[in-house]
Amino acid sequence: MEFSKLVELRRSIRKYAKADVKKQDIQEILDCVRLAPSWKNSQTGRYYAALSEEAIQKVYESLPAFNRNSSENAAYIVSSFIKGISGTLKPGEMSQEGDLWGAYDLGLANAYLILKARELGYDTLIMGIRDEKAIREYFDIPEDEILLPVIAIGKGEGEPRANKRKELDEILKIL
Ligand SMILES: Cc1cc2nc3c(=O)[nH]c(=O)nc-3n(C[C@H](O)[C@H](O)[C@H](O)COP(=O)(O)O)c2cc1C
Repeated sequence: MEFSKLVELRRSIRKYAKADVKKQDIQEILDCVRLAPSWKNSQTGRYYAALSEEAIQKVYESLPAFNRNSSENAAYIVSSFIKGISGTLKPGEMSQEGDLWGAYDLGLANAYLILKARELGYDTLIMGIRDEKAIREYFDIPEDEILLPVIAIGKGEGEPRANKRKELDEILKIL
């Protein structure tokens, strides 16, 4: 699909039909994520996919009610990054923004994720509001990883309206 169309068609979806998310598709999506740029190519993003019924149920139960309702029938991808690497100026010295660079890299990579998912016919919902402790425990995510959003992925139902965006002159200054 043409890139602009893909960007235009992607929306945060909060209603999913019962449908399987194929392991092979998740692998293809993450293969695309691997191509995202990162600080000194540090590639600190890590992903944990809940595709089995049991794993999906575990993540589902750990979500606050509103995100649970929004992601019913979807599968989940948990995203994290290894702290203390992206943002390093030289060994042992971090830039003043610290781990913000790792978060930046993960956000970039997750943009690839949601767009590639859309290309393969899946919809997504990025969820920053989640029970970090429960998810870390279930997937056994090491303490040196900062856990960021859980992303619901599935086959959306209905056509949500596009969210309003700021005007270009509100976000861009050209001199
Ligand atoms: C970092 C981040 C965290 C988010 N957390 C949530 C969330 O917990 N629950 C939710 O329903 N939407 C969440 N969203 C989705 C945003 O509300 C949504 O992207 C925004 O309203 C724009 O709508 P659109 O994605 O349909 O273009 C999150 C998005 C981002 C990027």
